[in-house]
Amino acid sequence: MSRQPTTASATAGSLTHLAVAGYRSLQQLTLPLGAQPHGGLTLVCGANGCGKSNLYRALGLIGAAARGELVAALAAEGGLPAVFWAGPERTSSAMRRGEQPVQGSSGRREAARLRLGIAGETLSYAIELGYRAEDHTSAFVLDPEIKREWIWAGGPFHPRSLLVQRTGAVVERCGEGGRSQPIALEVSPHESLFTAASDPLEAPEVFQLRRTILSWRFYDSFRTDRQAPARSGRIATRTPSLAADGGDMAAAVQTILEIGDSDAFQAAIADAFPGCHLTVDTSAPLFQLQLHQPGLLRPLEASELSDGTLRYLLLAAALFSPRLPPLLVLNEPENSLHPDLLAPLARLIAAVAERTQVWVVAHAEALITALEDSPGCTLLRLERELGATVLPGQTVLERAAWRWPA
Ligand SMILES: Nc1ncnc2c1ncn2[C@@H]1O[C@H](COP(=O)(O)OP(=O)(O)OP(=O)(O)O)[C@@H](O)[C@H]1O
Ligand SMILES: [Mg+2]
Repeated sequence: MSRQPTTASATAGSLTHLAVAGYRSLQQLTLPLGAQPHGGLTLVCGANGCGKSNLYRALGLIGAAARGELVAALAAEGGLPAVFWAGPERTSSAMRRGEQPVQGSSGRREAARLRLGIAGETLSYAIELGYRAEDHTSAFVLDPEIKREWIWAGGPFHPRSLLVQRTGAVVERCGEGGRSQPIALEVSPHESLFTAASDPLEAPEVFQLRRTILSWRFYDSFRTDRQAPARSGRIATRTPSLAADGGDMAAAVQTILEIGDSDAFQAAIADAFPGCHLTVDTSAPLFQLQLHQPGLLRPLEASELSDGTLRYLLLAAALFSPRLPPLLVLNEPENSLHPDLLAPLARLIAAVAERTQVWVVAHAEALITALEDSPGCTLLRLERELGATVLPGQTVLERAAWRWPA
């Protein structure tokens, strides 16, 4: 029997904007996200070096904040000196017109701030990081510190909609009439409010938003080499959503066949590979994927499939998850796929985007063309202007849809 996958539980409401400031080429950028009642598609494209991966990473950093791993994630990227916007604090119109050389004070430590924010229909969040305060007793002068965090109700920030605020080591709940009540003291500058104040009774908004962000799924170029996790078996347990490395693909496919929309899944496989269908050999604890193809006397296992075929099957297994995440992020899913597979891939993505929010970074014009007219698609064609990522044609009103809390 085939069942429809459940619609993603949008506990924090659909996301409407992503805002980033001071991170790599994202000097100051607010982007609208494709949002419709149950899903929406955000399609990010642009020339090499325009900032697509930086945006993908920025989303990943918000995920790291929710897991309590933001400072470690920034350290893994080379620390603040590497990730701070390397241009001047302000870019004048004369600089943009080329009438004045690019100059300024990129190195003012105390002024350097990296800010990330996400606006949702019901809850929004922003975080600000900077260098630690001058401390002559410590050698860790380049450590990033979480300076401030905010959670507020609704999309655009207004002081009256503030629910929870973190200033330095103190997290407080903002009550009626401006009264606030501390809910965590002595919070480490490396710890976000998501881990410092996650009690569901004391801070339900923090708990709810954290749970939503933790369930975002990121899929970035699945490995398909001979030693790729997807090619070797793994002890199978029920797997409603595929792991980021695809190592549990056979279990994820078996889960789709048992409790997901198996008919549509098999139709999507046949759409890409005519006459083919998938089964899973479950006779041993290490489940084996089997692709049945016309003309062969036996099905082929994951270890025998071509790179492109395996990658497509991994994408299909991720997109047919019986438990869709509230946000599904695909970084350059078309890599190493033959152009013939791009139209079926676009159909797959568009169908999922009717049920949950999907963010796709894409290069292939054929994929972009096939997706841009799908319902609820927001196409973001990024460019670079004096080193900074920009979204050309954005109006003042569109930019004003996001305001950083002060
Ligand atoms: N600290 C920084 N300050 C300013 N710019 C930076 C900083 N770190 C990296 N960049 C720039 O960010 C730009 C965008 O990089 P990104 O990897 O996001 O590009 P992309 O759009 O994903 O390109 P590709 O299509 O090649 O993958 C690069 O050109 C890089 O020079
Ligand atoms: Mg990139």
